[in-house]
Amino acid sequence: MRRAIRQQGLIIKTCQFLGSRADILMEEYVETLSLLHDAVPPRPWRQMRQLVERELGGRVEDLYAAFNTTAVAAASLAQVYRARMHDGTDVAVKVQYPGVEGIVQADLKNIRLLANMWARLETVIDFRVVVDEMERNAPEEVDFVHEGHAAEEIAGILASRDDVVVPRIYWERSARRVLTMDYLDGIKITDLEALHAAAYDTAQVAQSLIDIYNVMVLRHGMFHADPHPGNLFVLPPIMPGGVARIGLIDFGLTKRLPEAFRVQVVVLTSAIVAQHREDVQRAMEGMGFRTRYEDEETYYALGEAFLGDVLRSGKAYADQQLFADVNLRLGRVLRSNPLVQVPGDVILIARVMGLLSGIGRTLDSKTDILEALVPYLEEETAGEPTG
Ligand SMILES: Nc1ncnc2c1ncn2[C@@H]1O[C@H](COP(=O)(O)OP(=O)(O)O)[C@@H](O)[C@H]1O
Ligand SMILES: [Mg+2]
Repeated sequence: MRRAIRQQGLIIKTCQFLGSRADILMEEYVETLSLLHDAVPPRPWRQMRQLVERELGGRVEDLYAAFNTTAVAAASLAQVYRARMHDGTDVAVKVQYPGVEGIVQADLKNIRLLANMWARLETVIDFRVVVDEMERNAPEEVDFVHEGHAAEEIAGILASRDDVVVPRIYWERSARRVLTMDYLDGIKITDLEALHAAAYDTAQVAQSLIDIYNVMVLRHGMFHADPHPGNLFVLPPIMPGGVARIGLIDFGLTKRLPEAFRVQVVVLTSAIVAQHREDVQRAMEGMGFRTRYEDEETYYALGEAFLGDVLRSGKAYADQQLFADVNLRLGRVLRSNPLVQVPGDVILIARVMGLLSGIGRTLDSKTDILEALVPYLEEETAGEPTG
């Protein structure tokens, strides 16, 4: 664990990744791993300054009107500083650690090794597809220009909403390893005490969060794939009396689903809602799921575990008990008919759902998930002849 913290590389991402899957790992593991969210030791400023000045081609004193050289946060691949632009705008400057690309490559090798080992012990979920996914994403995750473009694209998708804010990117102060964006001065989404003290309506925040994710995943097939609490803030309304805004940061892991796949996700969701076994199987096969034996019941059980159970539980999120029940049942089904192929994108979506569910629980969400989903399912079928 110490070593993982020291390496400051992709291992932290993986540990965070696994740490957030409370449903997969045992609880005490999760507790140790979640320390990683904040435990990274900072790098000295003079190392980071060099990097900023090389990347942006100027002196920090000239590039910014003010720059606080004490990092506000140590991210897994970068350190984040607070600064001010010449026009007075408060910005966050995310500066990548020197040598990150090499570290990432080394980490990926270690993670692959771990996943291979894990695959021998754990047959229900094969983390090797997760590693495949990480290898695909790694080059983009270390390129802040890519991250900046992803932020702009998501901002575009959510532009008409008054309950979400995505930091603006300042391209004239950004490069491959430096990203300058609006500083979001908000409360961490899971800091209940602070949220209550500021009189935020947490159930409303939870409702917004679900809806924002429905827009991104179901309507646009392009989503912020890392909604862990460190990446989500709550900010005051734009206008007094308006709704609280959710601040979304960290677009290093932004996923664009192929259009056919996005449609399959909607079709699958509809089939699960309608409890239509045949359609569940067809959609899942279309997405790239394979089980060892062709069997409708296995697919149906998967669909129920993925979404159906929580929809029918009457709960606004999957609580610990539900997770335990679902895992038990799913384990039984998969032991007799294991999954031999899981589309990597589904694991990403499942992870997003797991994280959102955890946040929903913290916020004491009252959102009826079915009600929240229906408009997005209907808009997909609207205009098509229905049978
Ligand atoms: N625009 C921003 N406004 C305010 N705080 C930020 C901003 N960007 C990053 N931070 C702080 O820095 C931390 C790490 O940044 P993040 O982009 O999430 O890096 P990582 O990809 O390693 O998770 C965040 O959890 C947050 O506390
Ligand atoms: Mg982050």
